Amino acid sequence: MEHTVPVNPWVALAYLISGACFILALRGLSSPASSQRGNRFGMIGMALAVGTTLFVHEIASLPEILVAMAIGAAIGIVTARKIAMTDMPQLVAAFHSLVGMAAVLVACAAYLNPEAFGIAGPDGAIFTVSRIEMGLGVAIGAITFSGSVIAFLKLNGNMGGKPIMLPGRHVINLGVLAGILGLIAYFTQDQSPWIFWTVTGLSFAIGFLLIIPIGGADMPVVVSMLNSYSGWAAAAMGFTLHNTAMIITGALVGSSGAILSYIMCRAMNRSFISVIAGGFGGDSGAGAAAAATDRPWKRGSAEDAAFLMQQAEQVIIVPGYGMAVAQAQHVLREMADKLKEHGVRVKYAIHPVAGRMPGHMNVLLAEANVPYDEVFELEDINSEFAQTDVAFVIGANDVTNPAAKTDKTSPIYGMPVLDVEKAKTVLFVKRSMGGVGYAGVDNDVFYMDNTMMLLADAKKMVEEIVKSLG
Ligand code: TAP
Repeated sequence: MEHTVPVNPWVALAYLISGACFILALRGLSSPASSQRGNRFGMIGMALAVGTTLFVHEIASLPEILVAMAIGAAIGIVTARKIAMTDMPQLVAAFHSLVGMAAVLVACAAYLNPEAFGIAGPDGAIFTVSRIEMGLGVAIGAITFSGSVIAFLKLNGNMGGKPIMLPGRHVINLGVLAGILGLIAYFTQDQSPWIFWTVTGLSFAIGFLLIIPIGGADMPVVVSMLNSYSGWAAAAMGFTLHNTAMIITGALVGSSGAILSYIMCRAMNRSFISVIAGGFGGDSGAGAAAAATDRPWKRGSAEDAAFLMQQAEQVIIVPGYGMAVAQAQHVLREMADKLKEHGVRVKYAIHPVAGRMPGHMNVLLAEANVPYDEVFELEDINSEFAQTDVAFVIGANDVTNPAAKTDKTSPIYGMPVLDVEKAKTVLFVKRSMGGVGYAGVDNDVFYMDNTMMLLADAKKMVEEIVKSLG
């Protein structure tokens, strides 16, 4: 046994309990109904982990830790208050970059002062197992950092959403990855600084190279994949720091991020490998292509919409990104309440990637107190559109686009979509005919005989409809 740091059994127990709380948190967060309980477990687990770490504080002094915590908390509070719900994906990407950088800095500190971390023998040689953990931690952390910075810049619009394709990029990427792994292996035999710093530098570079060829439409998967990487980086550093809480939490973040990436790939009908390989959505990115407006289409008013829905037996509401932008969820629930008073059955259909983050629509509808039993996932409701009088699409576009089923050249081809066009009437709320969705493509549903376009801001239009419903 190479490690010499004794583990206090009470500390181990506290970390184990906090780990159990995190597992219960994830379980709670799997459904909107239990999400508050899940959040509470998460907070208890985190408070216990932070409290225990403060109590032990082997490496840094208490004032140092408290100053760092105060700075971090201040940044967190200001950002959380300022950020709009629709900017959440870039915020998540920015925070992941910090986790990646933290792992890099911990690895650097441990490399420069291994005795303080209890990972070196009396001759100053770092233990072999610690070198592996350190090498992996610094590599995954650096990839997470530079990848997340690029994801942030793309999602925030500072950098175009278009994939940037370097010639021979697959060969370059595979070569750099093989180089990093080879150097980590060599690092177990020789702890020279050049090896450690080359691994760090190459990892920063590969994070950048891996994310630049990925187009806008695949960014949600990338963010959750980087989330997963940040977890593995934290877990690797947990081994270096002998911190069980970090190992458990890192593994939970790593595996849940990987599962979420897989679920999102399935929702978009893309293979994980093809997402990572990049290049998808060449013409995508917000507003890349203008919709063709020379085709005939029908415009309706709030009164028309109110009349049609009042007569309906069943209305399925399909919310999307535009509902989030307009913050129309509260007035939408009022509209549903009014329709129910008129004896109409109301359901909500949620596409797994509607909006701009996983669960975006569920969160907004829950905030507006929409009953959970009225909210259905794509696979549970898609067959119902054919027997539904009105599909009320509000600020959604890509997730209803039938081209995903038929047009092989479409950037969203293969993504399962909500079959709104099968409803007797489709009411489509958006601001203009020219505005496109995230993938930047036109939608044939706008021009169908059974579609009525309700062109206005989502919140204003629904307010008008509520007035007309009386
Ligand atoms: P989108 O396809 O992006 O369409 C949004 C629609 O909302 C547009 O047609 C836009 O048209 C309209 N809109 C915008 N502001 C509005 C307002 N204030 N009032 C009324 N309408 C408004 O949205 P979606 O159908 O929800 O699809 C989501 C897309 O985002 C998918 O392509 C998905 O892959 C991608 N994505 C998803 C995520 C996750 S994880 N959910 C993350 C990143 C990206 P106008 O401009 O004409 O109003």
